[in-house]
Amino acid sequence: MEKPPLKIFAFINQKGGVGKTTLAVNLARALTLKNKKVLLIDFDPQANASSGLGVKVNKKESIYQALIEGEVEPFLKEPCPGLYLLPSSIDLVGLELELADLERREYVLRDFLYEVLLKGLNLPSYFDFIFIDSPPSLSLITVNILTAAQGVVIPLQCEYYALEGLSLLVKTVRGIKEAFNSELRLFGMVLMMYDPRNRLTHEIAEEVKKHFKWIIFQTTIPRSVRVSEAQSFGKSILDYEPSHKVSEAFKSLAEEFLKRLYSFSDFRSP
Ligand SMILES: Nc1ncnc2c1ncn2[C@@H]1O[C@H](COP(=O)(O)OP(=O)(O)OP(=O)(O)O)[C@@H](O)[C@H]1O
Ligand SMILES: [Mg+2]
Repeated sequence: MEKPPLKIFAFINQKGGVGKTTLAVNLARALTLKNKKVLLIDFDPQANASSGLGVKVNKKESIYQALIEGEVEPFLKEPCPGLYLLPSSIDLVGLELELADLERREYVLRDFLYEVLLKGLNLPSYFDFIFIDSPPSLSLITVNILTAAQGVVIPLQCEYYALEGLSLLVKTVRGIKEAFNSELRLFGMVLMMYDPRNRLTHEIAEEVKKHFKWIIFQTTIPRSVRVSEAQSFGKSILDYEPSHKVSEAFKSLAEEFLKRLYSFSDFRSP
């Protein structure tokens, strides 16, 4: 099979707590169970992806330091087989201010990925995918993520106001595409914390499908307390409870993700 064209994905939604980190971590893990190699870059100062994978975070070992030193390998962790992580730390908060004065401020992460990471490892095909977890904002950090990425994946929480802010987000993606990154595409949206017993969930899902039918993944991720339980133990749900319905959902999402990747040229631009 021909190699898919896209490999760098941004997990974005400026709304907090909608499931960005949960999606990035567990989809990455589900892909590694299909023998893909995934690098997860935790580009959120909250560092939830790092702690959720049981990686202790500190300034000296974070993506922030990696950016400063222009090095990758000393900073690379492998919390699960095939799943690599560049951890975050709270110092990333400072980056926002530091970036502001730079001439190529939108391209710092992109330059790092292309010039340091992919060239430095001298193996552009070393990772099948690079996933970037983002903070809940539309900040210079988010602009950097979108400028570095090829595909955008948007998690949506099936609750009130799921659609609120979504048009701004899509507009932002379009703006970044025009200004900094012509390669950028909306790749998919995932309905997170899906509760079939909740009438509102159905209504929101229908509403989202009405507007974004062309991009929504069929697989939904059910709500379960096991998800946050797993995170508190520093594990993906797929490692914590492999046959749980949420683990099964992430496995089928991984399949749908791969299938979509191969038919990607059919997709609309944002
Ligand atoms: N399917 C699920 N079922 C139950 N709880 C979930 C599920 N997915 C995520 N959660 C919980 O919801 C909360 C928010 O999820 P998560 O941290 O992934 O969102 P986020 O968008 O990354 O948040 P932030 O904007 O703060 O980065 C977490 O406590 C997480 O454990
Ligand atoms: Mg998060």
